[in-house]
Amino acid sequence: MMVEGCGLGLRDDFIDEIPSYAKRIDFLEVVPENMMHLNRKEAKRFERICEAFPVVAHGLSLSLGDVGSLDLIHLGRLKKFLERYGIEHYSEHLSFTSLDGVQSYELLPLPMTETMADAVTEKIARIEEILERPLIIENPTYYTVLESTMDETAFIGAILERSGAKLLLDINNVFVNGFNHRFDAKAFIDAIDLERVAYCHIAGHLEYRDDLFIDTHGMPVKEEVWDLMAYVMAKKRLPVMLERDNNVPPLETLMKEFERMREIHHAA
Ligand SMILES: [Fe+2]
Repeated sequence: MMVEGCGLGLRDDFIDEIPSYAKRIDFLEVVPENMMHLNRKEAKRFERICEAFPVVAHGLSLSLGDVGSLDLIHLGRLKKFLERYGIEHYSEHLSFTSLDGVQSYELLPLPMTETMADAVTEKIARIEEILERPLIIENPTYYTVLESTMDETAFIGAILERSGAKLLLDINNVFVNGFNHRFDAKAFIDAIDLERVAYCHIAGHLEYRDDLFIDTHGMPVKEEVWDLMAYVMAKKRLPVMLERDNNVPPLETLMKEFERMREIHHAA
C-alpha cells in the first residue's frame, strides 16, 4: 500500500530526534544515496526508524533521462538498500543527472518529445525489472527548455500512461516552473491525472530575481505554494510530504510548517 497522510523528508540534522515524533508524522522519505553507506551504529539507528515509520525512498542520481545507459552498479546497491530496510516505494526525477554515464549530480531537463517519452518508458521498465518494484517519477524544476514538441503535462502524461508508473507531484516545482516559464500552475494541475499521483512534495523556494525563482528547499514554504497545495487537495486528497534540504531549522520549528501542511491536508 502507498503511504498515507503527511510525511517529512528525513535529514541528518534531526535523525536522532525523529523517533519521538512517530505519533505526529505519518511517513518519512529518505534519500538512498545518503543512506547506502551507513556504519553499523547508523544502520541500527535507521533500522529502528524503519520500524517506527513507513519509509519511502527518493533517489537523486539514477538519471532516468540518460536513456543510453543504465547504471547497474548503482541499481544493485539500491536494490540491496531497499530490500535490507523493507522499503517498498522508490521515486526518481524525470530529468537527467548523467549523460552517457558521466555523473553531474544536477537535475537537468529532458527534451519533451514522443521519442524521449518512449525511451524513458523503456528505461523505467528495465529499472522496475531489476528493482522488482514499481517506479514513481517526479516532475522536476527546470531553468531552460530543450527543444520540445510536447508540453510538460502531455509529456508526463504520456510516460505515466505508457509505463504505468505513478507520479510524485512536486507542487512547489509546478509553482516555480509556472513562474519562471510563465504558465498557469493551476491549469498545469488540471491537466495532470491525479488518479496517477502516488504522493506530493511541498517545499520552499528562493525568489532570486523578479523574473527567476529557484527551487532551493532552503526556506519556508511560500503562501502561493500553500494555496496551490490547497487547490490540489480540494481536487483529490493525496499524501503529501515536506522537503527541507538546506538551512534546516530545529525540528520543532520545522514541525510548525508540518502542522500547517497537515491543516491544509485535513481541511480538504
Ligand atoms: Fe521534490
